[in-house]
Amino acid sequence: RLVSMTDMLNKAKEEGYAVGQFNINNLEWTQAVLTAAKENNSPIILGVSEGAAKYMGGTKVVAAMVNALMETMDITVPVALHLDHGSSFDTCKDAIDAGFSSVMIDGSHHPIDDNIAMTKQVVEYAHQHGASVEGEVGTVGGEEDGVIGGVAYADLAECVRLVQEANVDALAAALGSVHGTYDGEPKLGFKEMEEISEATGMPLVLHGGSGIPEHQVKKAISFGHAKINVNTELQQQWTKAVREKLNTDDKVYDPRKVIAPGKDAIIATTKETMDMFGSSNKA
Ligand code: G3H
Ligand code: ZN
Repeated sequence: RLVSMTDMLNKAKEEGYAVGQFNINNLEWTQAVLTAAKENNSPIILGVSEGAAKYMGGTKVVAAMVNALMETMDITVPVALHLDHGSSFDTCKDAIDAGFSSVMIDGSHHPIDDNIAMTKQVVEYAHQHGASVEGEVGTVGGEEDGVIGGVAYADLAECVRLVQEANVDALAAALGSVHGTYDGEPKLGFKEMEEISEATGMPLVLHGGSGIPEHQVKKAISFGHAKINVNTELQQQWTKAVREKLNTDDKVYDPRKVIAPGKDAIIATTKETMDMFGSSNKA
């Protein structure tokens, strides 16, 4: 059975590790990250963007697929199915109605009063249905599903307001992280991070987790991050493995064989990432 993020993130924050959100794109991807969670005995958050949900045939298809896999793969570690960067109350409601156990309402592109109002509306609906909610303040850099944004640091007072007034379960406070690839080392605002963590007491969420070196990941965890989102890294590893297969085997035509190395690459990368985040054997 799917669970919300609330207990897993509170436990992670208390014990000093982070639960990974790994974004899924299809059946094999989902099998791969669930296999990693099972083999590493780690809690896991399956991230599904609005675009990825649409790609897979809608939130109902995604929830049915994940629930069926949990059963047939005999998954007993905590798993949350989470809408990533939900853009409106309606898309969050649709995901919860379909069976998602968690949503992110990303109101960060709106003025803070509007962000708080829409987040609060989502929280009220989600909590009635046992689902958790992540809110965002500030702007994550880079691109996600074709939406390009510049980096804007989260404001401390706005973070405190969103947490207190909207009653979220996790807070994404953008502090220099970027979706996609980094140009050199990420420049994260650790001082601001510490202040926001102390002032809000919330499990923090680090977006743009791909390409952040281990020492920065550890520091972010020590400053209150209990969830780290990883998407690009898995996509890159999958594509590299599938490209290698196609480049080295010109006889292959069975699609299952074409993409099998991609699945293996996702399993390996997810397991390594769970080890780095410290969530292995924390299920
Ligand atoms: O919401 C998703 C994450 O922030 C993904 O970021 O693609 O840079 O790993 P990433
Ligand atoms: Zn993100």
